[in-house]
Amino acid sequence: MHNIAIDGPAGAGKSTIAKIAAKKLGFIYVDTGAMYRAMALYFIRNNISGGDEEAVTKACSEIDVSIEYQNRKQVVILNGENVNAFIRTEQVSMMTSTISKYAAVRNKLLDIQRSLAKTKDVIMDGRDIGTCVLPDAKTKIYLTASIAERARRRYKEQTERGIDCDIKQIEQDIALRDKQDMNREIAPLRQAEDAVLIDSSDLTINEAVDAVINIYKKGATAANERG
Ligand code: DC
Repeated sequence: MHNIAIDGPAGAGKSTIAKIAAKKLGFIYVDTGAMYRAMALYFIRNNISGGDEEAVTKACSEIDVSIEYQNRKQVVILNGENVNAFIRTEQVSMMTSTISKYAAVRNKLLDIQRSLAKTKDVIMDGRDIGTCVLPDAKTKIYLTASIAERARRRYKEQTERGIDCDIKQIEQDIALRDKQDMNREIAPLRQAEDAVLIDSSDLTINEAVDAVINIYKKGATAANERG
């Protein structure tokens, strides 16, 4: 398998870029953040506090998360229900960043993510794919952008959807999620030693996609030469 791992902070454009690159390369796109989001949704719906590790850990045994593909689109199934429409709110984003630090939550999803990459060429995005989930991925990318640029993109996306929002608040939320994701004990967000850095602050989507594909092609050529 030639798996591509893409990690980076919230709002760097990972999913947009990975989706297009997957289509161009004929790979399956796996959005691991969506799985963590489905778990967070369960805790919110069941009034389980994100700060209560014991309650979160206990509730993990009630949760079944899986992934399906419908018309090539990833669908996250939480206890039998397609929850794609409910996992992109700011409330879910913050809860996800909080509960993803717990071992019980991470262990639950690790095996599912690894088995998805075992039989298919995948582009998988998240926070710990290159460092922890797929340490042997042949291509590893760390995709980032400045906080100001990430907030600006998020603001544009939200206002285009007709959602009223404040760019300063978005910037603060992104900074808080960065801090939580980078400073947790288990599988924190960081660039793997063998990952290639792409800063998308000044790149168009197409330029960033091309950068990913070029890094993949270089890796594929090197692997062929090694035999
Ligand atoms: O990529 P995203 O914004 O959908 O991710 C939401 C949160 O999930 C993120 O703040 C941290 C967590 N996450 C994680 O801990 N590990 C991953 N591989 C993917 C996401």
